[in-house]
Amino acid sequence: MKTPIDTPVANSPKTAHKPLLKWVRKMTELCQPDQVYWCDGSQAEADRLFAEMTEKGMCIRLNPEKRPNSYLFRSDPRDVARVEKSTFICSLSKDNAGPTNNWEDPRTMRHRLKSLFAGCMRGRTMYVIPFCMGPLGSPLAQYGVEITDSPYVVVNMRIMARVGQPVLDVMGEHTFFVPCLHSVGQPLAPGEQDTHWPCDPNNTFIVHFPEERSIVSYGSGYGGNALLGKKCLALRIASCMAHDQGWLAEHMLILGVESPDGEKSYVTAAFPSACGKTNFAMLIPPKEMEGWKVTCVGDDIAWLRPDAEGKLRAINPESGFFGVAPGTSMKTNPNAMISCAKDSIFTNVALTDDGDVWWEGMTDQPPAHLIDWHGQDWTPDCGRQAAHPNSRFTAPTANCPSLDPDWEKPEGVPIAAIVYGGRRMSDTPLVYQAFNWTHGVYLGATLSSEQTAAAEGKVGTLRRDPMAMLPFCGYHMGDYFRHHIKMVKKLRYAPKIFHVNWFRKNAEGKFMWPGFSENMRVLRWIVERARGQAYARETPLGWMPRYQDIDWRGMDFPKEKWDAVMDFDRLQLRNQTLQHEELFLTLFDHLPKEMIFERELLIARF
Ligand code: OXD
Ligand code: MN
Repeated sequence: MKTPIDTPVANSPKTAHKPLLKWVRKMTELCQPDQVYWCDGSQAEADRLFAEMTEKGMCIRLNPEKRPNSYLFRSDPRDVARVEKSTFICSLSKDNAGPTNNWEDPRTMRHRLKSLFAGCMRGRTMYVIPFCMGPLGSPLAQYGVEITDSPYVVVNMRIMARVGQPVLDVMGEHTFFVPCLHSVGQPLAPGEQDTHWPCDPNNTFIVHFPEERSIVSYGSGYGGNALLGKKCLALRIASCMAHDQGWLAEHMLILGVESPDGEKSYVTAAFPSACGKTNFAMLIPPKEMEGWKVTCVGDDIAWLRPDAEGKLRAINPESGFFGVAPGTSMKTNPNAMISCAKDSIFTNVALTDDGDVWWEGMTDQPPAHLIDWHGQDWTPDCGRQAAHPNSRFTAPTANCPSLDPDWEKPEGVPIAAIVYGGRRMSDTPLVYQAFNWTHGVYLGATLSSEQTAAAEGKVGTLRRDPMAMLPFCGYHMGDYFRHHIKMVKKLRYAPKIFHVNWFRKNAEGKFMWPGFSENMRVLRWIVERARGQAYARETPLGWMPRYQDIDWRGMDFPKEKWDAVMDFDRLQLRNQTLQHEELFLTLFDHLPKEMIFERELLIARF
């Protein structure tokens, strides 16, 4: 057995950070890789890794004329998404994790992980990836170091976060970092042939130790399970840091809206997964709304902190998009299509005969022949999907044509409005504004989405997803609500809070609102309300725009349709509201009483 002393070091670390060096040494001892490699984050390094992976059949280089500097990976069909059932918050007490998280005693979990990790990197290289979430050097940024045996993770992390030597340089000798240990869990015996996507789906664990601020992930190489800066650090661990330090780590996009007079307002928005966050973040206003511009700061995560003036400022901790590919097209989201036109990684999409990528919804007419995400021949009549429904593109934020010029401002951008949105086919209206901050927190806390045909649950049943954070909150959900409520005390200019629902359907099952670009009409009203420039009428739900309060230039949407999409049935919503009790009961002894009062007020108004 190799000891760390004789484990070859492919390159020497250029850091004098003693705790980091000590941790890497300890992990080397535990995982027993063939060699250790410190990632510098350079293009040359990425090129070398892609060349090695192409050579080994782990990825395919796409046609450089069609998709420059881009690669296609196909995962093991058993490793295609985040696995919530294998995700754990191992806080010291079960009560701190709360009823919405899986919990296990940290000592028991550590014991299990130790035996899983013992020798798990044999036959492989251990990569050390120093990374920074947020603009490098920003007071709002956080540092992490991921150890992984997956070169796929290295090249993805390089897009999704700031990585490598510049991060080590800023970290110096003392900066705190979150240790993130990852293995695909498939050691290689001497001479054993590797698979194209090593993983251990029967032993997958994504574990967070919130008090210690550390992350350990085993068995999966896919997305949020393996790119540990994203959901694990920037949401689960960061939500715990934010709770302790007085800020917010949220599952929110950030966008800027500029009006024709040049005034700029920033908005964050939380939608449950698969509700079109990337599309909203990259919205292009209808051309008739001349002079209105939307810019993108981020499409998935926002870190928000009150500044000295009492404004809430936001940064996007990521530097890439990890977007769902199916449904993305030049019609639905041209900015996303341009973002992944080069320098991108594709996972589980289909390959065209000319070496480019394709997925369902990219074009009206599918190509006559493809290689599907399983690597098999595909024709339009074969009865299978060419791309996996959760197939992804990893694209640099910097490629986005609508990128906000201030997206990397170290102090972040000031937030004027927060939007919560669910997928509610039958009941809630298109848009309304909360009466005040606590009412807004209540709207976020009771956010829910109806299951679509592809999801696990029964079609039409509601999945509660408080603030779209159900799978991402690293502590007790009741304490999280209280933290949100308390935040307003630090804000002189608290953002206004709104609820939207783009997904309402009529009796014939047709969407009542066209969505996409036309959402700009709602966004304009939201921004003008936040600025104190737009009218609204009071209703039991909140403040609502009238037909004449919306900019209809270039859109034919008669008042009857508007009335229908804004209508609500008091009795139906009252019954819905009573069901909030279900979530509240599970959180009972941690639930802030403000939530009960808001519910009572709402029922009384109905
Ligand atoms: C994501 C998610 O991948 O929310 O962003 O699931
Ligand atoms: Mn997300």
